[in-house]
This record gives sequence, structure tokens and C-alpha cells, in this order.
Amino acid sequence: MAYLIRPIKDEDIPELNQLDKEAFPTMWPATNFKREMENIMAHYMVLVDEDVSAAAKPVLSIWKRLRNCIRHDTGTIQQAVDCPKVIGYGAIWVMAGSAHLVSVAVREAYRRKGFGELLLISSLKEAIKHKCFEMTLEVRVSNIVAQNLYLKYGFAIKGIRKKYYLDNHEDALIMTLDSIDSPDFTSKLEEYKNSHTRKWKTTPGMAELAS
Ligand SMILES: CC(C)(COP(=O)(O)OP(=O)(O)OC[C@H]1O[C@@H](n2cnc3c(N)ncnc32)[C@H](O)[C@@H]1OP(=O)(O)O)[C@@H](O)C(=O)NCCC(=O)NCCS
Repeated sequence: MAYLIRPIKDEDIPELNQLDKEAFPTMWPATNFKREMENIMAHYMVLVDEDVSAAAKPVLSIWKRLRNCIRHDTGTIQQAVDCPKVIGYGAIWVMAGSAHLVSVAVREAYRRKGFGELLLISSLKEAIKHKCFEMTLEVRVSNIVAQNLYLKYGFAIKGIRKKYYLDNHEDALIMTLDSIDSPDFTSKLEEYKNSHTRKWKTTPGMAELAS
């Protein structure tokens, strides 16, 4: 069994559509993944479970599973082969040095196992790779789960967009994480990653493999 994070592929789109329906049931218009793949500002990272047949699986050693799948010679997320089951994704748009976290979503059956955090770490790393100085996002005022995730990683509430969401006219909080390009944040991100590794009971050093 192995989990890995890799860039989006065409073959992921049907499963990503299902995942979006599950995670954002009222979202309209739905994400056009095909168009996003052609958008040079967009960077989509997909978390896949290679073992499609197992209905329930242990959640330990996420990094260990990643080790099998992520080439770490260049320090970037790398393409891997034949990974059919999409269990989550994270996406950023990079514009003028700012990374907009467009989406992070995990299939319901896999939530609360550290995958959302893993996708956020990967999104931050991707933003840093593209030389961004900040990450910003909108989140529903009612979405306390996602807000908790962002607060945990140091995002601050910077404002509010009134009636931002088309479905129910809910307000969005604008949350931003500044100075992600600073040495200070680089070491913080390392701490977050190590703490994630400890929490999911992986051995020291394995977190390196996903950097
Ligand atoms: C938000 C989401 C991606 C989190 O994914 P996840 O894999 O369940 O999250 P993790 O297990 O990595 O948890 C990371 C942190 O998120 C927060 N969190 C996750 N689930 C939570 C819950 N049920 N209640 C409160 N906080 C929660 C906590 O801060 C948690 O850290 P902790 O374990 O130290 O408490 C997932 O709930 C999801 O896909 N939701 C639907 C889509 C969505 O709303 N995306 C955000 C759009 S802005």
C-alpha cells in the first residue's frame, strides 16, 4: 500500500469530480479540472492511494508510504506511475508572488487522518518553490474545520468578503499566511512537518522524503 502526492493527470478528472461533489456539494460552477490543467497559474496536487481494493486501511506511516512513491532527488513533488485512487487534492494559483489556495479537499472516508494537513504542507512547499511570499485563501465563515487547519499553520484572518458564495450568499473570511519565503517560515514548516510525522508515528527522517 502506498499514498503519494503528485501533479494532476487527465485520468484523475472523473475521481476529482466525485471528490468535489462530496466536498463542495453546493459549489457552482463546479471546478473545471481540464481547464485548470491548462491554466499556467494553477498548480494542482493530487493525493492518491495506490491500493484501490482495500476499503479501510491503517493510517500510520504516511511518510513511509510516500517514500515509495516520491522521488526526492530534486526536492519537488514528482510524477509517479499508475496511482488510480484519488483521496484528496490541493490547488494553488500563483499570481505576482502570491499563492492563492484555491482548494484543499479530502474524501470523507479519509478525513481526520492527517491528509488535509499533508496537502496543505505540499501546497505551501509548492508555493515556496514558485517563489511566493504569501499564501492567501477564502473560507466560509461556517467552515470551522478548514479554519482550524489554516489557523494551525499560522494563517491570520485579514478580512471578510460579504456574500462571497453564490449558493447561499455566505460571507468568506480572507485568511493569509505572510512571509512564507522567509528562513523563519522555512524552519517553521520543517517543524510542522516533523510534528505531523510524530503524530502519525513515522520514524524521524522520513519527513525529509516528502520535501
Ligand atoms: C478541511 C479538510 C481538507 C481537512 O482534511 P482532514 O484530512 O480531515 O484534516 P486533518 O486530519 O489533516 O486535520 C488537520 C487539522 O484540521 C482541523 N480539523 C480537521 N478536522 C476537524 C474537525 N472535525 N473538527 C475540528 N477541526 C478539525 C484540525 O485543526 C486538525 O488538526 P488536529 O488534528 O491537530 O486537530 C476536510 O475536512 C475537507 O475536505 N473538507 C471539505 C472541503 C473543504 O471544506 N475544504 C476547505 C475549503 S476552504
